[in-house]
Amino acid sequence: MTAPYSLLVLPGDGIGPEVMAEVVKVVDWFQANRGMSFDVSHDLVGGSAYDTHGVPLADETMAKAQQVDAVLLGAVGGPKYDDLDFSLKPERGLLRLRKEMDLFANLRPAQCFDALADFSSLKREVVTGLDILIVRELTSGVYFGEPRGIHDDGNNPENEGGRVGINTQRYTSGEIRRVARSAFELAKRRGNKVCSMEKANVMESGILWREEVQWVHDNEYPDVELSHMYADNGAMQLVRNPRQFDVIVTDNLFGDLLSDAAAMLTGSLGMLPSASLGAPMENGRPKALYEPVHGSAPDIAGQGKANPIACILSFAMALRYSFDQGDAAAELERAVEKVLADGARTADLMGPEGGTPVSTSEMGDRIVAALSTRT
Ligand code: NAI
Ligand code: MG
Repeated sequence: MTAPYSLLVLPGDGIGPEVMAEVVKVVDWFQANRGMSFDVSHDLVGGSAYDTHGVPLADETMAKAQQVDAVLLGAVGGPKYDDLDFSLKPERGLLRLRKEMDLFANLRPAQCFDALADFSSLKREVVTGLDILIVRELTSGVYFGEPRGIHDDGNNPENEGGRVGINTQRYTSGEIRRVARSAFELAKRRGNKVCSMEKANVMESGILWREEVQWVHDNEYPDVELSHMYADNGAMQLVRNPRQFDVIVTDNLFGDLLSDAAAMLTGSLGMLPSASLGAPMENGRPKALYEPVHGSAPDIAGQGKANPIACILSFAMALRYSFDQGDAAAELERAVEKVLADGARTADLMGPEGGTPVSTSEMGDRIVAALSTRT
């Protein structure tokens, strides 16, 4: 038995609890079969927390999140909470977690499972075997920089409409270096290759970005292959030949766009995991929050239709990045691949050829069964 890993499970709203129930089956399997021990606690976030505590994230839950090895979150939000005051909205619970844990590196893998290659927006031969990881800086850049706002432009006769909208792209070298370090560390466990994307041709913050990423490479990770690319070219390369990449590291704005574009290379929203990592804690593990990319899907909530794979693959990321169980993570990913290859499909994965979809819990059971057939 390894020392127990502490895991805080926050199922949230809508399909969140449905997909999380399937992750719990997987966690139990690893405890029973792979000598791992998880200290799992469950708590509330989002609308479910609001219903109980009157806030989307209770202080005690926040404190717990700061202490555990990893937080696993389902999804938050729903029409029931649409009219709440901004500060009480379910999303605020998630934003508070990200902010107070200072999760500066957002990891979005784009991995193409062979059985689903026809779901890609690209040709099968372009995406077969695709396995890339986009690392997006999450706490700084143009979404947060000052000054910002909408101002009156005085009586400027050359400005029809008379207003100015301002946002500022601002990065410190420290902010760039820490996310660059995350990218290089991740690359060492994968294909050992980092491509950094900015627009150093037109933005000073991009020049600093390029120089600081290069600095971290030269001083700390000389053995990882580093290249630089302008982000607009990066967007073209992602849809032309995405397999040329291993890890891509980029700023908050470009990362937002590039990670969403990359997501569509692989198909359904129900398949996409993510991780957000912060600084290392005392035990050397990074602060970490794992969650599917999708939301609470109120249109299908409570019907057993949700695809649990995005959440299950988020747990695979936790195994790999928080618990150093890379083999177990790969084992889980292979189980997902096998179940898909065997033809199991939740409703979101039904192609035009039709068929009978499996339910959320049946998909979870099949993945656990696929794990069990391995020794
Ligand atoms: P959504 O991701 O919840 O749903 C978009 C579409 O994809 C829906 O048709 C849904 O049925 C489908 N879908 C999503 N996940 C699926 C899964 N696992 N299996 C099968 N189908 C799936 O995004 P939407 O509709 O824009 O937002 C719904 C609610 O979720 C809103 O309250 C929104 O604020 C919240 N939201 C929460 C997020 C989070 O917790 N991180 C992220 C995005 C939205
Ligand atoms: Mg986005």
